[in-house]
Amino acid sequence: MNAHPPLQERALAALSAAMPADLLLSDAEALERYSRDWSGDHYGKPLAVARPRSTEELSRFMACCHELKIHVVPQGGLTGLVGGAVASFPGGEVVVSLERMNKVRSVNPIDFAMVVEAGCILEEAKRHAEAADCILPITFGAQGTCRIGGNVSTNAGGFNVLRYGMTRDLVLGLEVVLADGRVWNGLRTLRKDNRGYDLKQLFIGAEGTLGIITAVALKVFPKPEQVETALVGLESVEAAMQLYSRARRQCSDLLTAFELILRRGIEIAVNSRDDLPDPLGQPYPVYVLIEASAAGRVDLRALLESFLADASDLVLDGVIAGSKVQGDRLWLLREMMVEAQGRGGRYLRTDVSVSISSLAAFVSETLSALAEKHPEAIAVTYGHVGDGNIHLNIVPPEDMPADQYDTLFHATEEVIFDVIDRHGGSISAEHGIGRIKQAAFLKRADPLTLELSRRIKDALDPDHLLSEGRILTSMRAEAEG
Ligand code: FAD
Ligand code: LAC
Ligand code: ZN
Repeated sequence: MNAHPPLQERALAALSAAMPADLLLSDAEALERYSRDWSGDHYGKPLAVARPRSTEELSRFMACCHELKIHVVPQGGLTGLVGGAVASFPGGEVVVSLERMNKVRSVNPIDFAMVVEAGCILEEAKRHAEAADCILPITFGAQGTCRIGGNVSTNAGGFNVLRYGMTRDLVLGLEVVLADGRVWNGLRTLRKDNRGYDLKQLFIGAEGTLGIITAVALKVFPKPEQVETALVGLESVEAAMQLYSRARRQCSDLLTAFELILRRGIEIAVNSRDDLPDPLGQPYPVYVLIEASAAGRVDLRALLESFLADASDLVLDGVIAGSKVQGDRLWLLREMMVEAQGRGGRYLRTDVSVSISSLAAFVSETLSALAEKHPEAIAVTYGHVGDGNIHLNIVPPEDMPADQYDTLFHATEEVIFDVIDRHGGSISAEHGIGRIKQAAFLKRADPLTLELSRRIKDALDPDHLLSEGRILTSMRAEAEG
């Protein structure tokens, strides 16, 4: 019996015949490996998995898929949180994994630029930058698994955005294989280039819907010689935001992270392992993890100490790490909170943003509305508040049957997004739309934004063969509805 409908079976056979024997994987065990993302919430078995070794090979492969009308979805490290990289198209999709295109092509410490293939793991790219006494500042929990092409395609944020910007701000150039197999070469390290439209911007944050990124030129920065990390306890989110506003002025441009964590997040981290004690003498409602870094002749430690001493009206207690090891221990609280928050099961993730000045009001209004309407929901609140970005996640109570989760997630997401709408905020500051935020996105997007977005999709991928049904609805869904 055929595993796929006969038409697809024929197209796949034609595809394998046209490609080198070891390009495509199709055995059941291999397909399983590329079927589930980090969250475990999304599963979709691909028709096959293509693992190109070069841009030319991918270009030939895409030309062939284009001719045979085979649907394709690019895959990086599968750590994306909106279900975009897992095969899901009703007629089936071939996954293109970039994992074999993983080289760091160059690091140039005079240009402060590096060129990396899309399948390079972020941590590996960061290691190469450091070997040249530079840093690639994209930093977050999944950096040991996610890949540069995925970071660019999701326009990833993370801990250091307030100093260095989102991934978009770090991209100098891109090389992209288009849906019809042609290669768009915009792989330059020029700092200034105003020749016509800046086409690379279209592919950044496009979640694989407009082309497959094969290589990226990125900005790097002088490696800081000093890094200072502090954890402070405060009375309220309001106090944390006042502290942020002062930090921006008093620590000049040296602030690299300002991460808010509400008490429940610290409890989750502390309870997740035996060797992670409560970090301060007593519990506080709100914590902020602060990092500052500097290259050159600055007494960073003195700067941070005097900043915190001046803020004694806001800071109830705090600790400044005395060494890198201690600093890493403070960051471990942040990491373990993310890992342990769902108790290994499903939970609702949000990644919303409002203006920085509205953030405290947003958190207090949302938590009050949730407590009133869904007292059973466990809210875990943390985020990159220096960018106005909060993760307000909902964990189901332990005794709730799993078949009631979706109802809880849907209802609580509505509460959170209603408050976001009132504040003129964004329902996705970091993770993107993919499939799981699509309905909420389409409901809010204005008609002209949607029309222009569809025209861009039609121009670059007229047959909608690439990542169909992510961000925008599929052609078929549109025809039906
Ligand atoms: P994948 O999950 O493989 O793919 C993501 C999307 O990009 C998919 O739509 C896929 O089709 C597309 N894609 C992948 N590669 C390519 C390519 N070469 N060309 C075109 N399209 C492609 N995000 C933040 O912004 N900030 C955070 O702080 C943050 N923290 C995280 C912490 C954890 C523990 C986890 C699991 C995730 C976190 N994320 C965060 C989510 C973030 O989006 C991803 O981790 C990362 O950017 C995705 O990279 P990836 O290689 O895993 O992409
Ligand atoms: C973080 C991810 C979930 O900030 O965006 O940890
Ligand atoms: Zn985040």
